[in-house]
Amino acid sequence: MTSPQGACLRAALQVGYHLLDRGSSALVAVEQAIRVLERSGLFNAGTGAHLQLDGVRRMDASIMEGHSLCAGAVASIEGIVHPITAAHLVMEHTPHVLLAGPMATKFARHFKMERQPFTRRPRRFSYDTALRKTAHNRDRHGTVGAVALDRFGTVAAGASTGGIDCMLPGRVGDTPIIGCGVYADNEAGAVSMTGLGEGIIRLAVAKSICDLLERGKTPAMAARLVLQKLVARIHGAAGCLVLTPQGRFTIRHSTPHMMAGYWAGRGIPVVNDTFR
Ligand code: GLY
Ligand code: GLY
Repeated sequence: MTSPQGACLRAALQVGYHLLDRGSSALVAVEQAIRVLERSGLFNAGTGAHLQLDGVRRMDASIMEGHSLCAGAVASIEGIVHPITAAHLVMEHTPHVLLAGPMATKFARHFKMERQPFTRRPRRFSYDTALRKTAHNRDRHGTVGAVALDRFGTVAAGASTGGIDCMLPGRVGDTPIIGCGVYADNEAGAVSMTGLGEGIIRLAVAKSICDLLERGKTPAMAARLVLQKLVARIHGAAGCLVLTPQGRFTIRHSTPHMMAGYWAGRGIPVVNDTFR
């Protein structure tokens, strides 16, 4: 896989792995790997995030750690390059889990987070037209995410997104909702989701997969069962990264494609466009 996106995924995997190799936590590896993807502008996250129907880029991100079960998230944050780091700051510096909207942006400003070079003012839009557009949403994917396991046996998961193709201003997807887009528990595993957020929220997919892991299912089986239910019950479309504290993992999707990869330090990182 030699596309720009493929090369960027490889770079992100290398950044994450080298951190783990030097003793960093899974949480830091996840955050730093996602920062590579957010900065690239090649994915629907960070500088490449989709615009909402009023022309504004509002982004969502979350991160969670499996030892402490600590989590942080931001929803509808604007104007910064790295929402995943804003999510980490919410986790580290506040007693809260989720900050949303203009006050999430203000929080990021307080920490002097790097700003995106061009931020647009909202443009006029009509709900009549917008509601027609959102009814025919053919989602292009591109949420970014990562899971990691560190040498202390702790797992972490994170995700960052600009949402979906056609969305009303203010729409929030699964990505910043703990248990939906992301979950991590050392007694089960770490899960990061991509796909159409409305379906992922309704089945609390990340936590559902973790619950099956905790009951002894393999990552492949847990992912398959939950994705099958998502498709069968609500015609959802999603993909997941799943990793256990024992180092077992799977990458699975109900969508035709999902570009993803893995690396454990030998050879070059494996990156593919489909996983079956
Ligand atoms: N709906 C965008 C994604 O999850 O990839
Ligand atoms: N999965 C990302 C979103 O639906 O916003």
